[in-house]
Amino acid sequence: MSSFTAPKGTYDLIPPDSAAFTAVRDALAAPLRGAGYGYVETPGFEHVELFSRGVGESTDIVTKEMYTLTTKGGTRLALRPEGTASVLRAALQANLHRVGNLPVKLWYSGTYYRYERPQAGRYRHFSQVGAEAIGAEDPALDAELIILAAEAHRSLGLTGVTLLLNSLGDAECRPAYRAALQAFLRGLDLDEDTRARIEINPLRVLDDKRESVRRQLTGAPMMRDHLCESCKAYHEGVRDLLREAGVPFTDDDRLVRGLDYYTRTTFEFVHGGLGSQSAVGGGGRYDGLSEMIGGPRLPSVGWALGVDRTVLALRAEGVALDLPSATDVFAVPLGEDARRALFTLVTELRRAGVRADFAYGGRGLKAAMKAANRSGARYAVVAGDRDLGEGVVQVKDLASGEQAPVALTGAVGELRQRLG
Ligand code: HAM
Repeated sequence: MSSFTAPKGTYDLIPPDSAAFTAVRDALAAPLRGAGYGYVETPGFEHVELFSRGVGESTDIVTKEMYTLTTKGGTRLALRPEGTASVLRAALQANLHRVGNLPVKLWYSGTYYRYERPQAGRYRHFSQVGAEAIGAEDPALDAELIILAAEAHRSLGLTGVTLLLNSLGDAECRPAYRAALQAFLRGLDLDEDTRARIEINPLRVLDDKRESVRRQLTGAPMMRDHLCESCKAYHEGVRDLLREAGVPFTDDDRLVRGLDYYTRTTFEFVHGGLGSQSAVGGGGRYDGLSEMIGGPRLPSVGWALGVDRTVLALRAEGVALDLPSATDVFAVPLGEDARRALFTLVTELRRAGVRADFAYGGRGLKAAMKAANRSGARYAVVAGDRDLGEGVVQVKDLASGEQAPVALTGAVGELRQRLG
């Protein structure tokens, strides 16, 4: 072993587990590709202010969890803790909202960094697949995104995901609600940090998990009773469309989420098998974010699904993904001439679209056959000088053990046919 290990709160993705991870990542993105979302990729770091203004000065993400650095030129950068602010920044910078149709629909997949206390399902480096629909206010767009996430979970065979849904109101109704909530919270017996939070971000207090706080929150004013008529109608619109699509949801008044940019629709996908880090994804509408980062008014909605936690959820449910093996054919040469002939055959097989591998390192037959079996290949192609003299290779079905000679010149066609 090297004297180094992966930093705390991180882990390496290595075979064979990495195959399930990439399959999950692909499955989470697949519904988006089929719904008009274009791929976007942004840098791993951004100007610190993008996140402090976008995600919110009072959030844990900005105050405690950002990895920041100052470049030699004095620029303050942060490793991205989330994707929404970056994607919106990129769309504005490229003027996508002016040149194309609205909404601009984008999807992304990448790694994100938060200096959190590591625990099961909570890492300092984690992966998300995300989607943002920028520049339209339409309950159908919120519903579309939620339906696409539910579809991704369904396609993976997950059955234990619950969708929690809430509305956080808008610039018209939220301020009055915020004031009413603050007045209520100021009358409670709370510690100093929580009292400070009342003044900066009172909605977050509703999200406090401590029993001593939760007990006192009974009777707190709830956003649902303070929504203005247009927010109420909008939320009903989203709920109707979800019902119509057969996507079950649970109304959750206390769902406030950990990022400040949300307005109206907010949602989270939670999984019962994950302990305290139960959110496998979350998102919502962020109608004011564009203006917060210096852009025009562009009401938008999006989500991010956690790849690491989705893998854990599958494991918790005991769902084994049907993963194709990395190799279909494994070539085992016996002797120098056979090495050259089979290496050429492997190259031809790959060009013909067959996944093929080769026994490198001049190992003996026994070790090479062991490697063939371990590779997960369906067929081994074995050849020695005598086979080549007869113009054949031996094709062995590794499951049944059956072996038969096949003409070397026709081997690519024969193997392609057998593999279907
Ligand atoms: P988020 O709720 O902070 O939202 O993260 C989305 C998902 O990323 C979480 O539900 C979880 O599955 C995963 N995740 C977050 N932090 C960690 C961690 N430390 N370790 C492992 N997984 C984690 C956002 O990031 C928003 N940008 C979502 C969004 C997009 N809202 C609108 N558009």
